[in-house]
Amino acid sequence: MKINSDVQSCLEKSVLCWLATVSKEGLPNVSPKEIFAVYDDEHIAIADIASPVTVRNIKSHPDVCVSAVDVFSQSGFKITGKAQIYTSGTDIFPQLKASLSHLLTPEYIVRNIILLKAEKISRILAPSYHIHPERTEAEHRERTYKTYGVRCGE
Ligand SMILES: Cc1cc2nc3c(=O)[nH]c(=O)nc-3n(C[C@H](O)[C@H](O)[C@H](O)COP(=O)(O)O)c2cc1C
Repeated sequence: MKINSDVQSCLEKSVLCWLATVSKEGLPNVSPKEIFAVYDDEHIAIADIASPVTVRNIKSHPDVCVSAVDVFSQSGFKITGKAQIYTSGTDIFPQLKASLSHLLTPEYIVRNIILLKAEKISRILAPSYHIHPERTEAEHRERTYKTYGVRCGE
């Protein structure tokens, strides 16, 4: 499944994503990740810096789901697919890590890169989009700024 520019732009505006995995025993696990980016038009790269359960789960169960929301526009995407773990010794690791370089600072030690191949992408919208379909995204954004007391440019 192709990751289009809308999804890419939303992921760039999302401060965090939430990555859900399943254990060997079938138990769910979800944890936040801030070091993530679209790798190419089918894949998302996520840094494993401190995510041992996520990595263990993917090794036995590659099915994952990641959600990311731009909190100001109150919208985002849910992406499901299969993930693979690339350790720092693999040939492709430097290339994968480079796709996250704009987010990494020297204190982060990336142990693995989690590479998610998108199989299904669906929109996430706040209920206000359904209640007020006449509002544009810019209006939703303005309202969120007011709700959270965000002042731009100060
Ligand atoms: C705001 C925030 C951002 C985080 N970003 C990352 C990240 O990009 N990569 C990572 O491995 N851990 C990240 N973490 C830490 C993991 O979410 C945390 O260690 C978690 O307990 C890992 O759980 P897991 O092993 O179930 O994945 C972040 C935590 C927070 C609170």
